[in-house]
Amino acid sequence: MVNSYKAAADIEVLTSSFPMPGYGLVPINAFVIKGSEPVLIDTGAAAMSKAFLPALRSVIDPAELRWLWLTHTDFDHMGCLHQLLAENPRLQVITTFLGVGIMSLLDPLPLDRVYLLNPGERLTVGDRTLTAVRPPVFDNPSTTGFHDDKTGAFFSSDCFGALLQTVPENAADISDSDLRDGEVFWASLDSPWLPKVDRAAFARELDSIRRMAPTMILSSHLPPAPGNMAERMLASLAAAPGAQPFVGPNQAALEQMLQAMTAVPRLEG
Ligand SMILES: [Fe+2]
Ligand SMILES: [Fe+2]
Repeated sequence: MVNSYKAAADIEVLTSSFPMPGYGLVPINAFVIKGSEPVLIDTGAAAMSKAFLPALRSVIDPAELRWLWLTHTDFDHMGCLHQLLAENPRLQVITTFLGVGIMSLLDPLPLDRVYLLNPGERLTVGDRTLTAVRPPVFDNPSTTGFHDDKTGAFFSSDCFGALLQTVPENAADISDSDLRDGEVFWASLDSPWLPKVDRAAFARELDSIRRMAPTMILSSHLPPAPGNMAERMLASLAAAPGAQPFVGPNQAALEQMLQAMTAVPRLEG
């Protein structure tokens, strides 16, 4: 199931919730910027590709899309990528050299359909200029988020994601403690290198987002957050390197779960 709603007058959210058994829900968001050259940001999860296209069509005719910003090449971001490229010959994929390289191991991107943009570089797409930004936290070397100068929104890719028990349409509706715990947990599991970072260097990375002063933070894995939540969200990220590292269930736990699932209930007599 992929739902859509508005994050701003010209920004649509396409979202689904992916259950992580025993832990909560991971929102998976793609976005549409309805500017004079419409931009789709990511294309949903591979496992949900059948539901993604009807949801996209409900907010825009895919033939109108001019750009597809691929924040990175993970399976929860590129589900409908090739289908959309085949459907719309004008669609150009904004990515990096590494994005093209990683895609070539699965289903190569035609080189005349890509636009390579490195962190720090800008691209004007009709009525707005997008500045590519490497977010402070990421799980894939091709990751590039961006700042949109027209709305002031920061599209942060996996950064600022959170594991949640319920997924509202606005991050402001999540309690402070749920947001902090969910964000720290997500950062620990998605970026397990965080405990190894130099804390001062990491703080400087977080400061660069503070200086950007986004009007909105649009993460791939959190409902849209108004800019006045940035300080809280940055504080959660600052705490993530000191959090308990995530350790998934091991083989013994898996066997226990499988046994519980296949156990025949005994009838009491
Ligand atoms: Fe990712
Ligand atoms: Fe992701």
